[in-house]
Amino acid sequence: LYSPLTDLSSARVDLLTALVSFERCFEVLDAPLPIADADDAVELFNPRGILEFEDVWFRYPAASTVSIASLEGEGSDALSAEPSAWILRGVSFRTTPGQITALVGPTGAGKTTLSSLVPRLYDVTSGVVRVDGHDVRDVTLASLTNAIGVVTQDPHLFHDSIVANLRYARPGATEDEIVSACRAARIHNTIAGLPDGYDTVVGERGYRMSGGEKQRLAIARVLLKNPAIVILDEATAHLDSETEALVQQALAEALEGRASLVIAHRLSTIKAADEILVLDRGKIVERGDHGDLLAGGGVYAELYETQFAPGAADEAAS
Ligand SMILES: Nc1ncnc2c1ncn2[C@@H]1O[C@H](COP(=O)(O)OP(=O)(O)OP(=O)(O)O)[C@@H](O)[C@H]1O
Ligand SMILES: [Mg+2]
Repeated sequence: LYSPLTDLSSARVDLLTALVSFERCFEVLDAPLPIADADDAVELFNPRGILEFEDVWFRYPAASTVSIASLEGEGSDALSAEPSAWILRGVSFRTTPGQITALVGPTGAGKTTLSSLVPRLYDVTSGVVRVDGHDVRDVTLASLTNAIGVVTQDPHLFHDSIVANLRYARPGATEDEIVSACRAARIHNTIAGLPDGYDTVVGERGYRMSGGEKQRLAIARVLLKNPAIVILDEATAHLDSETEALVQQALAEALEGRASLVIAHRLSTIKAADEILVLDRGKIVERGDHGDLLAGGGVYAELYETQFAPGAADEAAS
């Protein structure tokens, strides 16, 4: 008898919370977007996926120019008015379609930051990032986004069914296309084994996918999207060797025929790379293949000893 009443009183709290979030939505929407289409932006048409960095320097903009005050909570007036120190310092490289470029380096070297400049989560401070010869600032954000598939370290899933999470990569995808992408990404059997199959709700209050499952689902999204460029930030968390093997197979499918930039944490991925770039404190300090770099006895050789070598961190690589 009491419970409807208590429900009613908590409904008020829910409503208030909802109103607060609603207000914040507008605040986010109203915030000046630093990244927008140029007035004369062109469509990136049928991209081949040649990615090029030319003397790229980057520092994060001052927090006060990009953040939304109320999301920062108490003491928000302490937001820094200064940009960060230099995070990338004169980075130049070029990828080729069908090739895997691996980016390695110590934690904090700037690997994730570098990858975020390709889909324009931020713009370079100086220098140029080009896709197919176009400065990314000269093409429409929509066509740029279409050209790039991203798999992050911890892929985000919406609180919705698995099939809805996949369709979001290609709204018009048929059931057959979805299933074949999931087979190629080595996640179909896992999904088919769930009581509700593809209708299983995932996320916060739904079925919680493991790290390896989420990465494979994100890879299935990339296959559905079929972009010219793939950016993969490998999970740092250790996967058991069976999952590791499945993720490797899924990756081989996803990277085939595309230009890929892989922030690599696993020896098997690094060995598969056509070129390895070693980033240290924002600079590319070495480049080459695994054998050359190891023989060089520099930063890479040291990283190999501490991170990548079989046994260094329970690495279950080939
Ligand atoms: N939004 C941000 N604002 C200011 N500084 C940032 C921001 N994000 C990252 N940094 C700083 O930039 C530097 C590079 O960070 P980044 O995440 O690119 O390193 P990383 O090479 O990807 O490291 P890891 O291997 O741990 O993932 C770090 O010093 C970090 O503190
Ligand atoms: Mg990172």
